Amino acid sequence: ENLSGHLPTRLKGLDEVLCGGIRFGVLTELVGPAGIGKTQFCMKLSLLASLPTKFGGLEGRVIYVDVESKFSSRRMIEIGVSSFPDIFHMEGMAQEMAGRILVLQPPSLAEFTESLQQIKVSLLQHQVKLLVIDSMTAVVSGEFEQGPPRQHSLGWHISFIKSHAEFSRIPIVVTNQVRSQSIDEIPQYAFQALGIHWSHAVTIRLVLEAKSGERFMKVAKSPISPPLVFPFNITSSGISL
Ligand code: GTP
Repeated sequence: ENLSGHLPTRLKGLDEVLCGGIRFGVLTELVGPAGIGKTQFCMKLSLLASLPTKFGGLEGRVIYVDVESKFSSRRMIEIGVSSFPDIFHMEGMAQEMAGRILVLQPPSLAEFTESLQQIKVSLLQHQVKLLVIDSMTAVVSGEFEQGPPRQHSLGWHISFIKSHAEFSRIPIVVTNQVRSQSIDEIPQYAFQALGIHWSHAVTIRLVLEAKSGERFMKVAKSPISPPLVFPFNITSSGISL
């Protein structure tokens, strides 16, 4: 069993600076512009959390809140087959792992709120080892339903999500889309988009950006890690450093 309290990303340099990977019990935010690879990263993490322990995974269930219908099982299986060919070619393995990942697509803020309540019960009853919310920006902006932005109600959601992490001691990964293209400005944009309450709730922030045709990832907030920047790629095996 993984007793270190981290979900390894298997991105070597990143796991080193994060002292083992995505931390249990806290909120990790992936922030960056559209198309940078936040969802690709979340799909890879979902695979790693559902991978059997004998292959270094957490062998857990994953709850993936897919607010904008960006999750693709086809792509996730492709990432699995390319990243772990020996494991994924074992009979029934791809289906078994896909079966551990529960994808929720709440069509409105009311249903998103209801999903959070259900998730609380699931976290207690089932072997959930990762919760992904992709994306929080879409929830705030109300993009997935008609009507004005709902920022006023976000405080309750943030506290609820944070307490889920502490209470269940699993990693919670939340994405946040921002318009800025500059890695140094992104934290400010993230702050503007979701507010100070959100900013404080997040323990680890990874900022993703593209510059001169290359992608970079920066550990922008962490209680332990220096603000290092890593170049990364997106290939058939998903995010890779
Ligand atoms: P938003 O949700 O719009 O904020 O973007 P995001 O940051 O979640 O981006 P996402 O993770 O969807 O990344 C999209 C990028 O991943 C694309 O621009 C492609 O470069 C890459 N990508 C997506 N699918 C594939 C694929 O099947 N193969 C490869 N090699 N790359 C892919």
